[in-house]
Amino acid sequence: MPTKMLLDCDTGVDDTMAILYAALHPDVELLGVGSVWGNVDVETATRNSLHTVHLAGRGEVPVARGAAGPLAGWPAGTDPVYAFHVHGDDGQGNAGTGRAVGRAVAETAAEQMVSVAKAHPGEVEIVAVGPLTNVALALGLCPELPALVRGITIMGGAANAPGNVTEVAEANIWHDPEAAAAVFNADWPLTMVGLDVTMRTTLDESHRATLAAGGTIGQYTSRILDFYFDFFAREAFGERRSCLHDALAVAVACGSLEPTLAPTVNAHVVVGEGPTRGQTVCDLRGMYMGFPAQEGAHCRVVLESDPAFGDAVVALIAGAGDAAIDLEQP
Ligand code: BDR
Ligand code: CA
Repeated sequence: MPTKMLLDCDTGVDDTMAILYAALHPDVELLGVGSVWGNVDVETATRNSLHTVHLAGRGEVPVARGAAGPLAGWPAGTDPVYAFHVHGDDGQGNAGTGRAVGRAVAETAAEQMVSVAKAHPGEVEIVAVGPLTNVALALGLCPELPALVRGITIMGGAANAPGNVTEVAEANIWHDPEAAAAVFNADWPLTMVGLDVTMRTTLDESHRATLAAGGTIGQYTSRILDFYFDFFAREAFGERRSCLHDALAVAVACGSLEPTLAPTVNAHVVVGEGPTRGQTVCDLRGMYMGFPAQEGAHCRVVLESDPAFGDAVVALIAGAGDAAIDLEQP
């Protein structure tokens, strides 16, 4: 049975690949997409999410607009912080069509999360691959949400790996630590797919070539990865390749990627000011004993998975054929 999934994204380049993977993979029943601020502003994220579901020929999947900023608001005197330098001004590597396709539903992303969970009690996996603001808002709207879903899988955090915004904080957690803390503290099975595996699962020029040789869905994906590769060459790897990040969370959630090491441990998010703000502190002290069970632990932390998993994601997207929408740039 495919996994019923509600996918929440701050739709930049890797989120786009995650939506494509979820929309195209037979092990996923994609019930809805929510957009959230993060990589880009929420309007751009919503436009990109709509564009992507239509790109995949899945225009019937409802897309709901979510939060425009962090739970606690923007710190006084600061401007919103996005990641245009990573994902391009359009969140599509400055290679998108800019085309507005379809319309968001009337519900907010948090409302959609609650209504989808209530419509399928115990069956839905929430997969959140942006800041956790929408999920925290949904918990506020419906405190019994944890009992209504199968669980939640996030792309976010770092257990042993260094951070990618600060020394210790990963972007999705760092953007809204208060929201992330609410999500980590809620009583539900939480799977954390963090930088421990997503920095080690990369795409290179051979993957882009495979995508470019596919139909127009693959060609578009290859096109938006160009700018993203430049960022990682500059800031992370010293050569043109990129992380896959968000698609890994979708794959772990639907079971198409089985982690090779993923202990269930106690974990919490550091809030408050200071150099550890946004850190995910995971209790890995049991590692020398094969991770014995911990009282009250409900966070499965993915520490190892197949680093070649990008091949499977690329094969799915490259083989998806042609898009029903016009992908010419203006
Ligand atoms: C995460 O932050 C965003 O830039 C990516 O889309 C991914 O979800 C990686 O830290
Ligand atoms: Ca993301």
